[in-house]
Amino acid sequence: MESNISEFYKKSLEERLAIVKEFAQLSEEEIQQLKKFAALDFEQANRMIENVIAVQQLPLGIATNFRINGKDYLVPMALEEPSVVAAASKAAGIARESGGFEAKATLPLMLGQIQVIGIKKPEEARKKILKAKKELLEKANSMDQTLVKFGGGAKKLEAKILKTIKGKMLIAELLVDVRDAMGANAINTMCEAITPKIEEITGGKVLLRIISNLAVYRTVKAKTVFSKKALEESFREGNLKGEEIVEAIINAYAFAEADAFRACTHNKGIMNGIDAVAIATGQDWRAIEAGAHAFACWKNNGKYKPLTKYYKDKEGNLAGEIELPLAVGLVGGATKTHPIAKIAVKILGVKSAGELAEVMACVGLANNLAAMRALATEGIQRGHMKLHAKNIAVLAGAKEKQIDEIAEKMIEEKNIKVDRAKELLQQK
Ligand code: MEV
Repeated sequence: MESNISEFYKKSLEERLAIVKEFAQLSEEEIQQLKKFAALDFEQANRMIENVIAVQQLPLGIATNFRINGKDYLVPMALEEPSVVAAASKAAGIARESGGFEAKATLPLMLGQIQVIGIKKPEEARKKILKAKKELLEKANSMDQTLVKFGGGAKKLEAKILKTIKGKMLIAELLVDVRDAMGANAINTMCEAITPKIEEITGGKVLLRIISNLAVYRTVKAKTVFSKKALEESFREGNLKGEEIVEAIINAYAFAEADAFRACTHNKGIMNGIDAVAIATGQDWRAIEAGAHAFACWKNNGKYKPLTKYYKDKEGNLAGEIELPLAVGLVGGATKTHPIAKIAVKILGVKSAGELAEVMACVGLANNLAAMRALATEGIQRGHMKLHAKNIAVLAGAKEKQIDEIAEKMIEEKNIKVDRAKELLQQK
């Protein structure tokens, strides 16, 4: 089945679920779970975090039209912000016209850091650590036989000397192939396990032992072409030619490339999509956020830059690319314990953490393109208006059919206010 489902947004809940059920081969039980509209019971929630009193819920939407490396995906996205799911679907539709996205994740290599203080001769201690590399790696790997069995495990050990405000410190760094895990548990356990040996070798005191979320060895690259023709057709209202839209988007990108204040918002638009898939599938989205923004600096010698790039290809179409670290997992954590996250992964149909990362990078690129297309042409507010107007109508007390009627009227009048919605409701 293909993911370019026309007018998914116009279909009823039953119709949408029937499509997703067929696409992802969901069971009747899974459909019932989705239909409950309550993700977790108290027992489940109370096992995930402490002091639970309720469940905070977000809408789970499906982005359509995604074709990545020749495979079709329906992409579950969980977030509170209107327009993001529609924008991702729209941009994926434009990319689809040129064959969709190509994406490639690197090996899932993550870094663990061990901070050693109180060393008199750091350079000597560093050499000693490197000499004991084999033994240290073996000890680290003995902590996670399963990871090693599947081809992962600690692969490298490095050590660096840092000049800090508290003097010189030695930092030992463990590079671990975490396979389909996010990696924090495996790495933190390994770092703690080799601590006694590190202290013995260096004569120093180990302080922090923790994963780094700046996952520069675990990145994804994705690219696509947004054809000028498809861009023009997707933007009929403005009467802009495809070439003009391409030009406008490249100018918008140039702004972000030159200015950190704009780049930050540009990257926020990318993370709108990435975080939404992360939340839907039970990922540690704070780790992903931290990694993405740090990477935006690290990659560019400390200067904060956009995570995407745009340029005109030989035919004058808009080529778009993204590169960022994505530490995601399919084993352990909420992916396995959160019933909706489990179903979301099934809907997505990804078989490895790398594949999940590839999809997420494409969603980020799609959301970025959609934001830039809107910003550089009609402005962002128009797209936001529809759902915003509906929310205002609901706030004013509108029910069922009245919601759409009042929302449409307020948009027509360009006056979207609760007071106006109340007036219109009284006239009904
Ligand atoms: C809003 O959530 C995201 C945007 O601000 C992104 C951007 O400015 O590129 C529209």
